[in-house]
Amino acid sequence: MKKLWGGRFNQNTSKVVESFTESISFDYRLWKYDIQGSIAHAKMLGKQGIITSKDVSKIIKGLEEISRKIETGAFTFKEELEDIHMNIEAALTEMIGDAGKKLHTARSRNDQIALDLRLYLRAETQEIISLIKAFQKSIADTAEKHIENIMPGYTHMQRAQPVLLSHHLLSYAEMFQRDVERYRDSLKRINILPLGSCALAGTSFPIDRSYVAKLLGFNDISSNSIDSVSDRDFAIEFLSISSILSMHLSRLAEELVIWSSEEFKFIEMPDAFTTGSSIMPQKKNPDVAELVRGKTGRVFGNLLSLLTIMKGLPLSYNRDMQEDKIPVFDTVDTIKACLIVMTEMFPGIKFNTKRMNETAGDAFSTSTDVAEYLVKKGVPFRNAHEITGKIVLHCINNGIKLYELSLNELKLFSDKFNNDIFKYLRPEESIKNKKSSGSTSIAEVKKQIKKIKEKILL
Ligand code: ARG
Repeated sequence: MKKLWGGRFNQNTSKVVESFTESISFDYRLWKYDIQGSIAHAKMLGKQGIITSKDVSKIIKGLEEISRKIETGAFTFKEELEDIHMNIEAALTEMIGDAGKKLHTARSRNDQIALDLRLYLRAETQEIISLIKAFQKSIADTAEKHIENIMPGYTHMQRAQPVLLSHHLLSYAEMFQRDVERYRDSLKRINILPLGSCALAGTSFPIDRSYVAKLLGFNDISSNSIDSVSDRDFAIEFLSISSILSMHLSRLAEELVIWSSEEFKFIEMPDAFTTGSSIMPQKKNPDVAELVRGKTGRVFGNLLSLLTIMKGLPLSYNRDMQEDKIPVFDTVDTIKACLIVMTEMFPGIKFNTKRMNETAGDAFSTSTDVAEYLVKKGVPFRNAHEITGKIVLHCINNGIKLYELSLNELKLFSDKFNNDIFKYLRPEESIKNKKSSGSTSIAEVKKQIKKIKEKILL
């Protein structure tokens, strides 16, 4: 087949090279954006008198027909036509004749691919934002349902202080909120039109880039044509924001895995979202959560992959950059799949609130409350810490819990103890006594739910 760029070549491209250099096997996914961009470009060429309005109509009609064909599966993508741009352009020329050959005036595949990828990432970023919001909503609803349930809060994976289960869950909603904000902020940088930069130097045609930007809903046009065809920061930013989101999803997934273990028994995963073992009949495995955790490796890898592709590239466009799409597509698919499955699974998780509550009071988790009690009675914090430590040691040596101590026993450690200490020793009291904003008291957590629900609506 004759190449669209074949003029200066005497030999046909080797078959091996064709299959080595093609990108149509993956960039076919950009077809909708490629056509959208070409229609806007053709309209602009017509408006500026660079091509005739008759040609513009032919081009638009042809592109719309190609769009229908692709949508219904009636379009054949050809490897020898290399990429999505040339597949569509060749089909257009075949369909409408000479007018099709004029579409590539004042344009290069270098600015075209930069445009397609920006349009694609703009749409996918918006979709990911709505998927995160749906998941946040599911988390906030679950938190609301469990507003009063207490669980042990951990540091160093050791029971530390009692917290509300709702408080713990909401911390993830907060992380995802920051992810939403990062994606939103990145849209400012994605939503800039590179088209019209052409190969790298711009063009001698009197094009109107702002008009194309307006047609495609871009906020601005890029300022430097060399930068526009060389820049993949916006894709790297997408991959890095997605990596942070993935890390958040993975931490939550990890907790679900641990919590569903026989050792913890904090939750039971819904049957529909777990799998069995081919040998051990009793097994019910949290594979969904494990895979969400596991897929994080791919998402991080994709970020590293594109950073590495870009790090040594001289200006401006280099073919290496064709490799950007594989990690970007994979991250989009992975992130969306993880968000969808987690959102569907979440409402089905049964929380074993009884066990959570029982374990919340173990391991001297209200020791900090005892120390704070003494401080309120005038003992300097460091001394209060020391006294409470001794009480804990006494309990460990005698095999009793803090709330099983009598007032007389407590008085052996400090004469500041009075009957009111018994309002500090149980997990429920610890929760009730919290006053600081953002803390684990029911009133504060209710505020957090209200706030995050407001943000989800924005
Ligand atoms: N398929 C190419 C890519 O993804 C499109 C741009 C090609 N430009 C070129 N001069 N070979 O980067």
